[in-house]
Amino acid sequence: MRRAICPGSFDPVTLGHLDIIQRTAQLFDEVVVAVGVNAAKAGLFTPDERVGMLREVCRWENVRVELFSGLLVDFCRAQQAQTVVKGLRFASDFDHELQMAQMNHRLSRVETVFMPTAVEWSFVSSTLIREIAAMGGDVGAFLPPGVAERTVDRAQQH
Ligand code: PNS
Repeated sequence: MRRAICPGSFDPVTLGHLDIIQRTAQLFDEVVVAVGVNAAKAGLFTPDERVGMLREVCRWENVRVELFSGLLVDFCRAQQAQTVVKGLRFASDFDHELQMAQMNHRLSRVETVFMPTAVEWSFVSSTLIREIAAMGGDVGAFLPPGVAERTVDRAQQH
């Protein structure tokens, strides 16, 4: 069984994330989308809300969504997964991701595979989405439909 982990904050999940998850699901037997809990960072959505939205939109039969806290390599071990898949949008993503990939390999022999983000989503980030939504901009083109509505509602309350 070839199992891959797609980790991230997913605050909120974007169409760019979904593209990476879907393409990963075509390459591996099973994909675990891993929503990282960062206790030091209050997000727009709670970790449980992010998991709920991901479960609604990840409709592929070999994809499941889980919450994780602590080290990614420990989660990989618990899930019996040897591979992490990360989307790369531009060069500055690579700088940070390379360092984490090398550290994770050193810690636990976990391999990281980088997947180039599809061109149409290369400029999309959850950070920009949160900012645009908070200021009343239209984020509908970048998010799954139900997620877009909830993001606008939540961002305007903040
Ligand atoms: O959406 P992000 O910010 O790219 O997600 C980051 C995440 C959750 C994947 C990353 O912060 C992470 O791997 N956290 C787990 C903690 C950990 O393992 N730290 C050591 C990394 S070498």
